[in-house]
Amino acid sequence: MAVDVLLGLQWGDEGKGKLVDRWSRRGYDYVARFQGGPNAGHTIFHEGRRVVLHHVPAGIFAPGVRCVIGNGVVVNPLTLAQEVETLRGVGVEVGKRLIISTRAHLILPTHPKIDASHEKSQNIGSTLRGIGPTYQDRVARRGLTVGDVLWDDFPHRVRHLTEIHRQMGVAPPDLQAFMQAACALTEHEIADVETMLTDALDSGAMVLAEGAQGTLLDLDFGQYPYVTSSHTTAGAACTGLGIGPRRIRHVIGVFKAYATRVGNGPFPTELEDDEAERLRTAGGEYGATTGRPRRCGWLDLPALKYAVKLNGVDILCMTKPDVLSNYGRIKVCVSYTDAKGNNHRVLPSVPERRGLVPNYVELSAWNEPRKEDPGFAKFLNLVESELGMRVEYVSYGPGREEIRHYP
Ligand code: IMP
Repeated sequence: MAVDVLLGLQWGDEGKGKLVDRWSRRGYDYVARFQGGPNAGHTIFHEGRRVVLHHVPAGIFAPGVRCVIGNGVVVNPLTLAQEVETLRGVGVEVGKRLIISTRAHLILPTHPKIDASHEKSQNIGSTLRGIGPTYQDRVARRGLTVGDVLWDDFPHRVRHLTEIHRQMGVAPPDLQAFMQAACALTEHEIADVETMLTDALDSGAMVLAEGAQGTLLDLDFGQYPYVTSSHTTAGAACTGLGIGPRRIRHVIGVFKAYATRVGNGPFPTELEDDEAERLRTAGGEYGATTGRPRRCGWLDLPALKYAVKLNGVDILCMTKPDVLSNYGRIKVCVSYTDAKGNNHRVLPSVPERRGLVPNYVELSAWNEPRKEDPGFAKFLNLVESELGMRVEYVSYGPGREEIRHYP
């Protein structure tokens, strides 16, 4: 029938995992990842245990839902095998419930090494999971796909690509564990996802497309070069799954009540030292994939407005306002002043974004993140009036049930 896309509106880590887990129980047949790879870390609390997913869509906890890894995703078979084990440990069998596109590209053991060597000169703050180099091989038309695993000459093709990597200065790795994990991908269904999904949609199925990273890390629309190597915006759901744009019904945008960023790059509302540490501790802001402390700052409405427009968001979800409960004074950025003195109410591209000085509104924090609390109502009003749309859902804790709907 239709596809709803759920994605992050900031620099990732908006709490998408919990929302996908929750949303996927609303009659979806499939939950599908369409971009990125194991640089993502989607955290879900399942029966009191914290599970971090890197490839498997967060819909895996919803009974009866099938999970899809689309062609736009890059897959590390070793990481995926560990993830499947972790899920087994909490009583979730993955097996054929997971459908992987024949066209998804494989992360080889050499790709993270290339990432590490690029990082030395580029200093992006990459998660070093080999994501960029794998997409580079895809664009260079020499990458290996999940479909290649099914062919007899797969070992030869792996050796061929690692030989190219050796010529780039990366020592040939031991490939035994990789080959085993790559062959084990057949425990899942390997399929032409584009055909399978469009047929399913024609037969009335509902699909939830799960974004990874965040809008402000998009390869084109993020703050290049401090971006990830895939498109993280709503349009990528079409190219990363092989579905036509007219299939998309809702775009659900998720944002945190404050801002965080891992890795380098511009962050106009960033806090420093003790102020940053206070927010980091209150929000538990450490990378789910790398454990790195996240940079922390105030909510940036011009950046959020940009993200809402770019994705055509029609349903907005706020997460983690509970972190700011009883926080005292808080700030919200409503515009920036650039180096020439111009005012911007929407995040501009280069060169004005350099040296943007945020203009803040100061508010008192709330006791409780609910509309009946005057402090929270004021904050919500400011966000809604700046964005020109309502915040329909407020998630106020990690648990599945901790979410309020304001229809
Ligand atoms: P890469 O995609 O691992 O190369 O990282 C590029 C940039 O995106 C770095 O700043 C990373 O910290 C950031 N990044 C990548 N994946 C995520 C994510 O899932 N959440 C938040 N930041 C991410």
